[in-house]
Amino acid sequence: MLAPLEGYSDSVLRTLCFRHGADLTFTEMAHVESFLKNSRLALEKIAVRDMTPVQIQLLTGRENELERFLQGFTSFPGFEGFNLNLCCPSPDVIGRGKGAAMIKRAAKTQRLVSLIHGHGHAVSLKMRLGTNAHERELKVYLNAIRGVDADFFVVHAKTAVQSSAESEDYSVFPECVNAAGGRSIIANGGIDSPEKVEALKEMSVGGVMIGRAALSNPAIFDSLKNQLGFNKPPKPVPTIPMLKKEYAELYTNLHGSERLRDNFFRVVGKKVSLANY
Ligand SMILES: Cc1cc2nc3c(=O)[nH]c(=O)nc-3n(C[C@H](O)[C@H](O)[C@H](O)COP(=O)(O)O)c2cc1C
Repeated sequence: MLAPLEGYSDSVLRTLCFRHGADLTFTEMAHVESFLKNSRLALEKIAVRDMTPVQIQLLTGRENELERFLQGFTSFPGFEGFNLNLCCPSPDVIGRGKGAAMIKRAAKTQRLVSLIHGHGHAVSLKMRLGTNAHERELKVYLNAIRGVDADFFVVHAKTAVQSSAESEDYSVFPECVNAAGGRSIIANGGIDSPEKVEALKEMSVGGVMIGRAALSNPAIFDSLKNQLGFNKPPKPVPTIPMLKKEYAELYTNLHGSERLRDNFFRVVGKKVSLANY
C-alpha cells in the first residue's frame, strides 16, 4: 500500500504507484471539519480523477461532524472506504483530541467506525503505538485493535514523540496480529527492502505500507513484489527517468497540482530524509 503523504499523495502519485504495484492508496490527511466548511484545500486533497483504488483519510474526534460529512458524501469508482487517522503526531492535533490522541480512546474510535459502517463503507485505522513511551508501555495500541471493529489496521511501529531518526520497533507485530483476531495488520515504518518485508511476513502481517521509499522510487512496489516472487512472471520496473516522464503525463491528464508536482520532483530518485510525521 502507498502511505498517505501530505503534500505528495494526490491522484497523480497514487495512480503512478498503483500502476507500479501498490494495491491500495490513501489520500493526504484532511480534517472532517474542513470538509464541512467546504475548504478548497481539503476538497482538493480528496479530488479523485480516475479509478485507482483509494481510501480517504479523515482526521476527526467527533461523531456529529463525521455523521454530517457522511450524509453529504457520495462514493465513486475506486473508492475503497475511509481510513481514520490515529497517528498524526502534531501537538496541535493531539491537543484537540485527534490524530494520535485517539489511540487510547478505543470506545470513541469504535463509535466513529460504527458510523462509517452504518453508511455502508469500509473503514481502516492508521495508528501508532501511543502518543508517548508511557502509553506504549500500557499497550494502548492493543486495546485499540481489540476494541475497534475496523476492517484492517495500519500500525506505524513508533510513538508520536519518537523522532524520525529513531527506528521502528517491528517486535510489536506478532502481538498486534494476535490481537486483531483474523483481521489484517498492515506494517508501516521504514520499509524499503525485501528482507524487511520477508521478516514482517514471517510475523503474519497482512501487508505493508510504504511512504518515503515510494517517493524516492514510486515503482518500489513492483520491485519488491518481483524480488519476493509475488509477481509471476516478474513485471518490468521502469527507471527513475521513465517514472518522471510518466508522472508528467499523468499530471497533465489528471490535472494535478503544481505544488505537489514540484514537491515530487524535489524528492524522486533521491534518498528521502523527510520527517516521517
Ligand atoms: C511528507 C510526509 C507526509 C505525511 N503525511 C501523512 C498523512 O497525511 N497522513 C498520515 O497518516 N501519515 C502521514 N505521513 C506518515 C506516513 O504515512 C508514514 O506513516 C510514515 O512516513 C512512515 O512510513 P515510511 O517510513 O514508509 O515513510 C507522512 C509522512 C511524510 C514523510
